[in-house]
Amino acid sequence: MSTKPSRYTVTAALPYANGPVHIGHLAGCFIPSDIYARYLRKKGEDVLFVCGTDEHGAAINMKAQAEGTSPREIVDRYHGIIKDSFDKIGVSFDIFSRTSNKTHHETAQAFFKELYDKGSLEEKVTEQYFDPEAQQFIADRYIIGECPNCHYEEAYGDQCENCGRSLSPTDLINPKSKLSGSTPVLKETKHWFLPLDHLSGKIKSYIESHKDWKPNVYGQCMSWLDAGDGLQARSMTRDLDWGVPVPLPDAEGKVLYVWFDAPIGYISATKELLGDKWEDYWCKEDTKLVHFIGKDNIVFHCIIFPAMLMEHGGFHLADDVPANEFLNLEGKKISTSRNWAVWLHEYLEDFQGQEDVLRYVLTATAPESKDNDFTWKDFQTRNNSELVAILGNFINRVLVLVQKYYEGKLPEYGVLPSSDLEILGALKTAPADIAQSLEKYRFREALGKLMALARLGNKYLADEEPWKKVKTDPERTAQILFVASQISAQLAQLMEPFMPFTAEKLRNALGLKSLPWAECAKEIFLASGSEIQTAGHLFQKIEDVVIEAQIQKLEDSKTDTSPKYEALKEEIQFEDFSKLDLRVGEIIKAEKVKKADKLLHLEVDLGFEKRSIVSGIAEHFKPEELAGTKVTVVANLAPRKLRGVLSAGMILMAEDSNGKLSFTSPPADMPNGSIVR
Ligand code: MF3
Ligand code: ZN
Repeated sequence: MSTKPSRYTVTAALPYANGPVHIGHLAGCFIPSDIYARYLRKKGEDVLFVCGTDEHGAAINMKAQAEGTSPREIVDRYHGIIKDSFDKIGVSFDIFSRTSNKTHHETAQAFFKELYDKGSLEEKVTEQYFDPEAQQFIADRYIIGECPNCHYEEAYGDQCENCGRSLSPTDLINPKSKLSGSTPVLKETKHWFLPLDHLSGKIKSYIESHKDWKPNVYGQCMSWLDAGDGLQARSMTRDLDWGVPVPLPDAEGKVLYVWFDAPIGYISATKELLGDKWEDYWCKEDTKLVHFIGKDNIVFHCIIFPAMLMEHGGFHLADDVPANEFLNLEGKKISTSRNWAVWLHEYLEDFQGQEDVLRYVLTATAPESKDNDFTWKDFQTRNNSELVAILGNFINRVLVLVQKYYEGKLPEYGVLPSSDLEILGALKTAPADIAQSLEKYRFREALGKLMALARLGNKYLADEEPWKKVKTDPERTAQILFVASQISAQLAQLMEPFMPFTAEKLRNALGLKSLPWAECAKEIFLASGSEIQTAGHLFQKIEDVVIEAQIQKLEDSKTDTSPKYEALKEEIQFEDFSKLDLRVGEIIKAEKVKKADKLLHLEVDLGFEKRSIVSGIAEHFKPEELAGTKVTVVANLAPRKLRGVLSAGMILMAEDSNGKLSFTSPPADMPNGSIVR
């Protein structure tokens, strides 16, 4: 869009109502979208900021089955928790709706019906996996089996998490249903497909008209579009009993695919809020539509949803999709199933009154261009040495000194020296400078610029030392506190999108109103004679014990990831076992086998003779560390050659579920050649 938009539609990805929201969701999507929406409002723009819970899909069903309850109970519970925690952390949606409500069902059905009536959907009968025990079709995600690519045993029907390959359920070797554990059977079923293949030209030119998108977003779209087999028709319906019913007569037991209905949820929420005026925000070309999402949602927002809108017609397509990367937690991927997460509703309980601290830290460490790590130690450091020691300390000193020296009334300042004018000049240019970063969705950078103002103020006071000058030079002292008060006032204005709670407290202390962004481009906010009050400590130091308790809580609540054991081999007789001749040996020499990454050539002392043995352990052990290691050897294994090297025997190794190897070493004083039985 080249001309200035007349209005903005800002969306934040609808969180699934199958669990609470965690810091990864906040950092990836909700905090940046909220900063953006608050900034636009402060600019005086016409902004609509929408979200709600995504209440359909197989994930909700699975959660309900796992807990022995209904999907309805699950979505009601989590909608409540999520909505409440967004309110408390200050995410300022204009509406937070839900996809199970009537307006949404009607809107999604009408959308589907329109595509159907236009002939945009292809009806196809395909074979899908059916769980004969649970008597239902199984969503791709809930079929597990061996990956045909890397042979990982627990690949999902849509993707192997081990090698990253995207899969179809029928690619899996030995598929099993997660519903009942039984082996699924293929069964014919009818579905309606969106022919993305026909649309690929249009989609490609749409994406190519947005080279300005973040490189990760643009790149992911292009790699999808350029993939070997191009875009495939995608089924927009599912066999499930929870979801938006397919609005066709012969579609009993079928619902809309969750990724079909969920993004329409943005539109339904707008209708719910605005009635007929919803069209302004979705259909007009002078509206700027921005989707905030995490990187796992890119294809749905940049390709599939736009394709749906194009086919339907009459809609304006997204102008920007500033997707973030992932936030890790203490060096590990956040995981709901392993309960490795900091949950927002728990943070809000544990850190009451410190909502802005989390907003600050998640913005300062936002995974804007690469995955990033949240650690409790870093959280503590940012609070104590940035918020408390710089921002809070500066403001507190200013307010307390004005109280102490002038009974809270800003003094006259006479003629300011040029160094002071320079500082006031920096206040004037700050709004444009910060806006420049915000407009590019560089929220970290914008926050850095805000903190630079606080640092400037802190340094000014430290250099000028008004608490000393007050005795010798009252005129200069008045100037210093006058200027420092202006810095505080500008901070109160510009911190608003980032830390709305602190901004309000500070504005109240200073007796200021929230000013439009453009009006913040000035030098003087508070005239001499203005009354200001103290604000108490805006930020509190966080002690080590508090942080240690959080780390402990994480460790305690993570769910057991103890190894899953491989199935036992078939039973053998004692005679089978007694054929093995196992002996204690000792490695005396080890070297790499040329041109073989995995193999080591070992010389092993069996007491009565020395053996040449080739072992596949080169990726786990350094040859120079092995001499002297006691090992258990299968001593009567028929010799063979590996890469031209004689291997006469085998070393027994233990392997854990992550593939880590260790020797099964007899004690050091057991003589070489001793029998193991
Ligand atoms: N529920 C999805 C997720 O958490 C996001 C849905 S975004 C929408 O990944 F556009 F579909 F609404
Ligand atoms: Zn794999």
